[in-house]
Amino acid sequence: MTAVGIDAVEIWTGKLKLDLPGTFAPEKGDDPEKYTKGLGLNNSSFPDAYEDIVTMGANAAHRLMERKGLSPDDIGRIDVATESAFDNSKPVSTYVAGCLEQVYDGDFHHANKGERKFACIAGTQSLDDAYNWIKAGRNRGRGALVIATDTALYARGDAGEATQGAGAVAMYVTEDPDLVELSTHQGYGSADETDFLKPNQQFPSVDGKRSIQVYLARMREALEDFESVAGASHPDQYEYIPFHTPFPGMVRKAAVLGYRHMIRGTPIEEELAAEIGELPRPEGFAEDEDYQEAIREYMDALSDTDAYREWYAEAIEPTLSVSREVGNWYTGSVHLARLSALRDAAEKGTDMAGKKLLVGSYGSGAQAEIHAETVADEWDEEIEAIDVESQLDRRYDLSFEEYEEVHDRHNHEKQTELEPFTTPDGEFVFDGWGRMNERK
Ligand code: CAA
Repeated sequence: MTAVGIDAVEIWTGKLKLDLPGTFAPEKGDDPEKYTKGLGLNNSSFPDAYEDIVTMGANAAHRLMERKGLSPDDIGRIDVATESAFDNSKPVSTYVAGCLEQVYDGDFHHANKGERKFACIAGTQSLDDAYNWIKAGRNRGRGALVIATDTALYARGDAGEATQGAGAVAMYVTEDPDLVELSTHQGYGSADETDFLKPNQQFPSVDGKRSIQVYLARMREALEDFESVAGASHPDQYEYIPFHTPFPGMVRKAAVLGYRHMIRGTPIEEELAAEIGELPRPEGFAEDEDYQEAIREYMDALSDTDAYREWYAEAIEPTLSVSREVGNWYTGSVHLARLSALRDAAEKGTDMAGKKLLVGSYGSGAQAEIHAETVADEWDEEIEAIDVESQLDRRYDLSFEEYEEVHDRHNHEKQTELEPFTTPDGEFVFDGWGRMNERK
């Protein structure tokens, strides 16, 4: 059976940044440690005046095509995953193709184009679509371009304002991939939920605290469904576990639940029981307050054990490094977590070929998917070729007043004029709603 998976990845961050503890927290009257320690964020990325989801997606895709020496003929499918689309008819992939056709000989007339929407999980769903298309033998030797692009903005004053971000991840999905191989080992947890919605509105109506509980509930279901296909998971089975990361503090909560689930019936469970006691069992309803409090105490104690800390430091912490610096990229976020993990492995010189990743994707509304990936032989060359640091470093550092101007510029109802803070450098730029984006 031919391996199918992600052959190459490139990212494009919005070219502005907001320092959360240094600039945002003082204006909001917050303790900076709420951001650095509580939410786990240092900075958020924002799009400059001439950037939007199309330009960020097209720029990430162009960078990927250039590095891999691809032409439009190599691409049989372009899927854009986004929850920030501005057009209810044309998919964002048509705009992206329009940009790319300006710089390549040939066109994408042969390519099937679409747009996937299911909040942040749509990037992973597009990967699944690409995998199925290739496995079905319909790709005629071509690969699929999957682009996850979002501007994650919340209304000013909403609690979610602390967790904003903007950027795109472009992935090329092929046979015999260089980065990771996907498989049929996947599981879902899905339910009709109303904690995070955008019914015909740009900024979400969100019940933040409930959204955290829904994330955890769907992720737990997805893990159980995954295990019904792949067998019981063990913490040591996976080198890294990249999760959807709306903010790193969310992953801290998901990780301890995942770990507790994975140690069931293992010697680790017995050893920890001697140290922190047994997992409390509900005597009445699981919603009972005393039981919930007992569970919270147990989970706190578990996350304080050496066994857990060691596992977290190796399998989870390294997945958060890019997210800490860019905030929430919605559809791109879990793919940044995978990239962060593999960058960590490359820095440490770990031989990852053949090793496994467990990837936890999530979209509000709500659905979680857990799937396993196997790292491909050429992963390290691919990771070393991706430029992340210089993209992060060259962002313009916004003052609070400038941040508010940028927020207004990208507010679809305001769309205020704004002088850019940076200069385009051989990239696609946004030139007004509905008009063709140009390369400058
Ligand atoms: N030092 C250390 N920690 C501090 C602190 C300090 N001085 N002050 C606060 N904290 C901690 C808090 O204890 C809390 O951590 P715990 O949850 O572990 O207790 C954390 O910092 C955040 O503090 P608050 O809960 O007081 O923050 P908040 O009321 O401003 O709301 C939020 C936080 C609910 C995440 C809000 O930012 C929000 O609504 N975000 C958008 C929704 C979201 O991201 N939900 C995630 C799940 S949904 C999803 O994943 C899809 C998606 O991409 C949106």
